[in-house]
Amino acid sequence: MIKVKSVLESKFEKIPLQLYDNAAQGSIAVAEEMAELIKEKSVKGEMAVLGLATGSSPKRVYSELVRLHREEGLSFKNVITFNLDEYYPMEPDAINSYVRFMKEHLFDHVDIDPANYHIPDGTIPIEKVPEYCAWYEESIELAGGFDFQLLGIGGNGHIGFNEPGSKVNSVTRLIALDHSTRAAAAGDFNGLNNTPRRAITMGIQKIMEAKRVVLLAWGEGKANVVKESVEGPVTDKVPASLLQNHPNVIFVVDEGASNKLIRKQQPWLVTQVLWDDRMRRKAVVNLALSLGKPVLKLTDEDYNKAGLNDLVTQQGPAYDINLKIFNELQHTITGWPGGKPDADDSQRPERAKPARKRVLIFSPHPDDDIISMGGTFIRLVEQGHEVHVAYQTSGNIAVPDDEAVRYSDYVHEFASSIGMQNGKTKEIYERVLNFIKNKKASERDTDEVLNIKGLVRRSEARATCRYVGISDDQCHFLNLPFYETGRPEKNPLGEQDVKIMMDIIEQVKPHQIYAAGDLADPHKTHKVCLDAVMEAVSRLKSKAFMKDCWLWLYRGAWQEWEIDQIEMAVPMSPEEVKRKRHGIFKHQSQKDNVVFQGSDSREFWQRAEDRNGETAQLYDALGLAEYEAMEAFVRWHY
Ligand code: F6R
Repeated sequence: MIKVKSVLESKFEKIPLQLYDNAAQGSIAVAEEMAELIKEKSVKGEMAVLGLATGSSPKRVYSELVRLHREEGLSFKNVITFNLDEYYPMEPDAINSYVRFMKEHLFDHVDIDPANYHIPDGTIPIEKVPEYCAWYEESIELAGGFDFQLLGIGGNGHIGFNEPGSKVNSVTRLIALDHSTRAAAAGDFNGLNNTPRRAITMGIQKIMEAKRVVLLAWGEGKANVVKESVEGPVTDKVPASLLQNHPNVIFVVDEGASNKLIRKQQPWLVTQVLWDDRMRRKAVVNLALSLGKPVLKLTDEDYNKAGLNDLVTQQGPAYDINLKIFNELQHTITGWPGGKPDADDSQRPERAKPARKRVLIFSPHPDDDIISMGGTFIRLVEQGHEVHVAYQTSGNIAVPDDEAVRYSDYVHEFASSIGMQNGKTKEIYERVLNFIKNKKASERDTDEVLNIKGLVRRSEARATCRYVGISDDQCHFLNLPFYETGRPEKNPLGEQDVKIMMDIIEQVKPHQIYAAGDLADPHKTHKVCLDAVMEAVSRLKSKAFMKDCWLWLYRGAWQEWEIDQIEMAVPMSPEEVKRKRHGIFKHQSQKDNVVFQGSDSREFWQRAEDRNGETAQLYDALGLAEYEAMEAFVRWHY
């Protein structure tokens, strides 16, 4: 039995929440609950009627159910299921169809009677859709309604494909997908243009009628919408918030997805807390920002009114606390990310010695280094450190087809222009063009095309490195094998991946490692890349050179550290912001028409500038010096 980390109910939460250390543990617990229900029903000779979801959230629940079937004899003979939704139009055997998803993840691996599972049919002629939807509803009723409904949640709060605006009594119907939903799915469909605009979805009414509803949310990418749904008002603008009126619902979440809740952001309002350094900084920063007052102007009264009398009683008066926090924040700021030579480093984030450090930046994709820490990267090089960048994955699936064609074209013309064109190069060129021309939406690229796409990204990364000022032999392309599936779905981290990571660390013997600590990446590559860093570092930590190696985490394109977590903030002038922007521009395949845009329509350089600008504004608001922008890092003690 997996232990729930916390069920602590906060008075701010209007939906009960089960918090687990990670998605794997939460999924096992949910699968156990479903298995119990199926068994109970079976004993009574009844059918268990389950509402099921697709997407990334329930995958581990399904794999655990399959395991329970295989290893513990859980039978699905008495199970009837109805899925929430299907894209429209959609052939059942298409690579992104939910029929295919359900078969691959569950139905093909358990003993369910195929007549007992139902997934909305994406092939119904448009004029027959209303009739079909009515039949779907009746079939659910005929089965007796749901004993259990499993849900994921969209970044916009959708449940099923009930997009914002869906009413609580909505029924099964055809629905136009929100732009943000399509953008989030665009990676699977090889770009927004190929992504379906519509879907058939069960309505909210049937979900509300289910005897039990369990909603899964994993990762920081879901944190905002979980907060809105659980703590916000009941509104059809956030369909999941309608579940506040369900009598038997829980949200099952991991650390990341619960991050924005009051119990995490202001735990002192929910329970007795231990006022250690971290908690104190969190409280003061929170108080200052919420009152719009610089830290040094906070008064005892401000603390008391905000429920922080405990802190003032134990460590006050406000004047002392303010000063302590102001100094702590001040000491996170440095223009010397590699340490300031010959300076007193007792109050600086980095060591002064050695003055010239070997630095290894791990970049999950070929552009994360410059997007996420370009200003720091440039400073490290200019301040004379030996900087290496190791690109962990090829990033090949994120190159649009027309870029691959453009580069093939160039090579073809170049070869002819110098008389190097031969039968083989011509044949490859024509094959590539032909494949791309006839490629079906969501079809996997051939290895040849993937190779070209990988090379495009490699040359862009090299261009950035030259621009920053490091030589080609300091750029390392690791091409970690876990990534090389040609699809958004990746393999798990393997031994070979870890070995490659260990080799490069041993080769460079760095004094500083920078890695992406970004867990909100929509296609999860960053998380695997971080796991690879952690694993390699932990296996190497007994080596002598590692004793002198510090690990700094930056955040990728999707998110920033909380201000109170930051341990090193590197300021940037307006000129430096521009230089970083131009470094990002070297990644032309990631401008316009980006394959993995996510639901944020800003380009990567805009996100980076907005984010770095916001960090600087927050420091300013807290009463520290006002900079144009700042890049932020957290030190990881391994
Ligand atoms: C899937 C569905 C959607 C997803 C939601 C979250 O059947 O109806 O509501 O649950 O879009 O998707 P993931 O889990 O991929 O983040």
